[in-house]
Amino acid sequence: MYTTEEEIQINQIAQELLQQNEAEVDPSAIDALKKVLNYLDWKYYVQDNPILADVEYDKLFRMLKQVEASYPELVRADSPTQRVAKGISTSFNTVLHYVPMLSLENSYNADDLREWDRKCKVFAKKEVIEYTVEPKYDGAGISVYYEEDHLERAATRGDGIQGEDITNNSKQIKSIPLSAKLSEKNVASLEIRGEVIIRKDTFKAFNEKRIAEGLSILANPRNAASGSLRMLDAAEVAKRGLHAVLYNISYHTNINNAEDNRVLQSHYDTLKWLDSMGFATPTGDMLRTSSIDEVIAYCDAYEAKRDELPFEIDGMVVKVNQLADQETMGQTSHHPRWAIAYKFKARQATSKLLKVEYQVGRTGNIGPVAKIQPVPIGGVTVSSVSLFNEDVIREKDLRIGDTVLVERAGDVIPYIVKPLAELRDGSETAIVFPSHCPVCDDALFKAEGEAAWRCVNINCAAQVVERLIHFASKDAMDIRNLGDANINRFYELGFIKSVEGIYQLDFDAIAQLDKFGAKSIENLKAAIEKSKTQPLYRLVYGLGIRFVGETTAKTLAKSVTHLLDFITWDEARLCTLEDIGPKVASAVVQFFRNEDNIRLIEHLGALGVNVENKHQATDTSAGALNGKTFLFTGTLSQFKRSEAEAMVEAKGGKLLSGVSSKLNYLIVGADAGSKLEKAKKLNTVIVLTEAEFSDLIHTIA
Ligand code: IVH
Repeated sequence: MYTTEEEIQINQIAQELLQQNEAEVDPSAIDALKKVLNYLDWKYYVQDNPILADVEYDKLFRMLKQVEASYPELVRADSPTQRVAKGISTSFNTVLHYVPMLSLENSYNADDLREWDRKCKVFAKKEVIEYTVEPKYDGAGISVYYEEDHLERAATRGDGIQGEDITNNSKQIKSIPLSAKLSEKNVASLEIRGEVIIRKDTFKAFNEKRIAEGLSILANPRNAASGSLRMLDAAEVAKRGLHAVLYNISYHTNINNAEDNRVLQSHYDTLKWLDSMGFATPTGDMLRTSSIDEVIAYCDAYEAKRDELPFEIDGMVVKVNQLADQETMGQTSHHPRWAIAYKFKARQATSKLLKVEYQVGRTGNIGPVAKIQPVPIGGVTVSSVSLFNEDVIREKDLRIGDTVLVERAGDVIPYIVKPLAELRDGSETAIVFPSHCPVCDDALFKAEGEAAWRCVNINCAAQVVERLIHFASKDAMDIRNLGDANINRFYELGFIKSVEGIYQLDFDAIAQLDKFGAKSIENLKAAIEKSKTQPLYRLVYGLGIRFVGETTAKTLAKSVTHLLDFITWDEARLCTLEDIGPKVASAVVQFFRNEDNIRLIEHLGALGVNVENKHQATDTSAGALNGKTFLFTGTLSQFKRSEAEAMVEAKGGKLLSGVSSKLNYLIVGADAGSKLEKAKKLNTVIVLTEAEFSDLIHTIA
């Protein structure tokens, strides 16, 4: 796609553009800005290797938007600004695929694959056949069509013959290029097939946010991808962080009817060619071999590591590599003969829904949990499945006694797909959602637009305990020796009644308890003492303000010198902070208008807990690493990445998200890849091992 020289050159242009004053960009910079931004999108979304910080990208994007606004006649369809969602559709038009989107024949074990190998040789009339093996992405099929180097149309699979026109939505998927230099290769039009997927971490974060906002969650990454593709508001699509992997050219025409001289001889060459045109393809996860034994071993290896992959796959696809062989073999009305899906073992099982229990969360949300007859799914025994909220129970029409289909997809939490209604015998009973809190018996409330019922009694024992657990948790105040069990025990015994109680514990009384020796009391004391010096954002997060996750807590903590400064902040001022919208702002204002919360913070301060932003006052401005930039790559073994990054920030250093000429130090763990290569090429980056980094951190003042 880009040669190293081109990459270096574009990086230089990027740096020059970044030096410019945003308000004074002139139209001659448009091409450079477009080139740089398209390149940065490709680096980030196709290569998964960002090289500029988000703020720098945003600045370049703003610059382009600004010149285009002043010179609208210079706006072209391939400008990165044209990905911006335009309006809300009311429905999607139906479009005919140029070539039907076939499905695949399935295989489930080594014998099936050997039998397919035998048949391939008969159909291709060959003794030896070369195969490729690539992941079977668990997402939504898509077809994208380019004409005169531009993305003209994108469609869902639909029934394979016709799908829905989702062109506008597809422009929100940054790994789908808006333009490609096809004409340079004599290609006039091109239809490509692939799969739209959502990464597991994006999916998880998305659902966590929805749960925090009291909304219902998306069942699994596959549904999330296909649902997202068909959303009417393209701006919402953009928020879903979709990714497209393209794996088949289904149709093309050449410029001037030039002779199609079949430069691309194989499936592998085709995908390599698509790579070079800027598309994301499976080549990084691909095997080429003529041995069916190797095909089988590769499928097994991927099945074993499917949980470690960043996206869901439900199998592998084996294809005959040579296009000439594919042509000889042909297709049935349903599937090509030259490809087969190897399906991994099901991650679904059926079980009986025994009862529903109701858990009270930290914010009083009532979470229904289905207790099912324990059943093994993909190596784990599942007996409890969250039902999230009442709507999920109603939408699925679940009943006690139902036989239910349960799915567990990798590290996605298990969920009930559906009840098997046809197996009902009439003995099933309705699930009655409680009207009162199962712990404190106060009436439950449901806010407008929210899916969750809530107990609004902030003194409800369950909520208090959950708040304490959250406060002491690893990502909040990190009080190692104060886990769930101890908090529950201390609460029941009346030793801790509120967060302040943690800092007023009667250790003599604890010493009288079972299993509390001198050593564990020492450890507990030390952990509590240590938590007093945690940076402010951990306290902000630990206080459990609604909608304030770790990232928002960091943004908030950075903005004040003392936590109580927020008493004077209003919604408008909060909304000026990065990523803080009206909903979060209102929750923060409410929190700091509450007298009890103010007293709590004052009391914590008096007890010695850090309520100030010490870093802002001292470290970052005068830190020993002030002005130096850092990036970590590969797998670290001595530190957790978040810890190492916090050490850098604590000493005033800045973290970058990619290798560029601005980077001073690259710290490499095991299996460091392209970032290390790039740093070496740049020649200006100091590469450190973990041990060297540790020395650096500990020897500087
Ligand atoms: S090839 C003629 N390759 O699986 C080409 N399909 O169950 C046929 N899929 O409809 C498709 N990953 O949506 C192919 N690497 C991959 C795939 C893949 C996922 C989907 C595709 C297809 C379905 C069949």
